Amino acid sequence: MSDDLTGEWPLARRSALPAAFTWLREAFPRSRWDEASVPGSATHWLQMHAGFRQASRHMEKVAEAYRSGSIDLRDFHGRLLPTLSGFLQHLDGHHRIETTHYFPQFRAIEPRIAPGIDLLDRDHYAVHAQLERLAECGNALHRTVRAGNINAVDDAARMADALDTAASPLLRHLDDEEDIVIPLMALRG
Ligand SMILES: [Fe+2]
Ligand SMILES: [Fe+2]
Repeated sequence: MSDDLTGEWPLARRSALPAAFTWLREAFPRSRWDEASVPGSATHWLQMHAGFRQASRHMEKVAEAYRSGSIDLRDFHGRLLPTLSGFLQHLDGHHRIETTHYFPQFRAIEPRIAPGIDLLDRDHYAVHAQLERLAECGNALHRTVRAGNINAVDDAARMADALDTAASPLLRHLDDEEDIVIPLMALRG
C-alpha cells in the first residue's frame, strides 16, 4: 500500500471530496441521511465519526486554553490525556475494522467504488502516522509532567502543535469517507 503522498488525491493536499466520487453523494445526499431507510450500520458509522469529531474539538479547545494561559500545564495534561488515550485507541480500532472488514465487502458489493476505497485506505495510512505522532507526544508529556521535569513545557508545546497538525486531515477523512460509504450502504443495503 502506498503512503499518503504517492497515491491520487493525497489526504494532506485535499480540501474537498474529489470530483470522481461526488456521484455517490449526489445519488444519496446528506439531507437524506436521517431517513428511516438508512441502515443501522450506517447510522452507527456516523455516530462513531461524530464521537471522533467531538474528541478532536475537545482536545483543540484544551490546547487553545493552554496556549492562551487560561489553564496551566497540569490542567492541560489532566484534561487532555484521558481524551487523547481513548481517541487513539478507538480511532485505531475503527480504522482496522473498516480496512479489514467493511472495505472488502464494499469492493465486492459495488466494484465501481473501488477507487474510492483505495483512497480511504491510503487515508488510513496517513491518519495512522498522525496518530503515532500524537501518541509519542502524549507519552512524552505524561512522563515529564509526572516527573516534574522542566522539559514538560516543551513537550506541551509539541503536543499542542501535533494536535493542530492532526485535526484537519482527520476531519477531511471523516467527511470524505462518509460521502463515499454512507450512500453505498443506504442504496445497496
Ligand atoms: Fe476511515
Ligand atoms: Fe471511519
